[in-house]
Amino acid sequence: MRLAIVGATGAVGHELLGVLERSSLKFDELLLYASPRSAGSTLNFRGKEITVQVTPDGPIPADVILASAGGSVSTALAPVWVAGGALVIDNSSAFRYDDAVPLVIPEVNGSAALNHQGIIANPNCTTAIAAVALWPLHQQFGIKRMIVSTYQATSGAGAKGMEELETQTHMVLHGKEAQASVFAHPIPFNLIPHIDAFQPNGYTKEEMKVVWETRKIFGDPNLVISCTAVRIPTMRAHSEAITLEFERPATPEAARALLTQAPGVEVRDDPEAKLYPMPLTSSGKYDVEVGRIRASLAFEGGLELFVSGDQLLKGAALNAVQIAEYLQQQGALKVGALR
Ligand code: A2P
Repeated sequence: MRLAIVGATGAVGHELLGVLERSSLKFDELLLYASPRSAGSTLNFRGKEITVQVTPDGPIPADVILASAGGSVSTALAPVWVAGGALVIDNSSAFRYDDAVPLVIPEVNGSAALNHQGIIANPNCTTAIAAVALWPLHQQFGIKRMIVSTYQATSGAGAKGMEELETQTHMVLHGKEAQASVFAHPIPFNLIPHIDAFQPNGYTKEEMKVVWETRKIFGDPNLVISCTAVRIPTMRAHSEAITLEFERPATPEAARALLTQAPGVEVRDDPEAKLYPMPLTSSGKYDVEVGRIRASLAFEGGLELFVSGDQLLKGAALNAVQIAEYLQQQGALKVGALR
């Protein structure tokens, strides 16, 4: 089995290499691709240097391609890779809303991945982080309405987003003016309620992704969801405050008991001991932290909670690798179509 990463030199690409090093996914060869800017450079994988190649315009000789080079690359090339015989697990939003493309979080709807036609979409990071925590609650109590406010790290804008936070913070601390380039405004000592493009309804595309994708992954088109997405000056974990109204009344104790058993979730909920989810503790972690679980004052029988998850891991690289692992465990990875 040949595995390829397109966008190997990016922030998610870097995490894909790390997750694959520790993964149980079986493959014989790893091919790395990026833009012409990094062609010829090498990346270390399991002690070996692998040369990064220019992403070709045509087919890629791999059975599985983990694509993380942005929407325009995936839109243009994923169909070509599929025609060449590869399965594409795509981290961009290019195909997520296509009815023929499964949108998969293995802990929630893993079996949807079995019905692919060559492309499987990896969800938006904010959606994925919330969904692993909300799915067990949805199954037990039936979410009727959810209101989400996000606190999103600069890693959501890739390696260049994190670099902008670091260099601009340095500039501000040295009395210089920060010039925004990746973000709409200077990010140090600020927060920006604007992620992705504004839509005709006044929400941003990032906010609507949470609405569209949660409905698709939960298989519940009637779920009432609204979201406010905010970029904050942290490095790599996204946090979200979530208010939930249910069909059947929930209690914090019952929710805690459910979430303690839930795969991909770590309950971190002891306010007396100052224990709750935070970017500093969830960064680098596979599980999504959930805490501040309390009865809602706004909705009877509802809950309020706070989640924090590594945007680059469960929000991107880890979920993509878990999709491939799931398919391999199910004996559903087609190998050798290209040879
Ligand atoms: P490169 O490093 O050569 O620019 P990030 O999300 O962190 O910005 O990373 C984006 C990733 O996508 C990088 O690996 C980047 O490669 C790659 N990339 C960007 N544009 C292209 C392109 N047109 N073709 C192939 N890879 C691309």
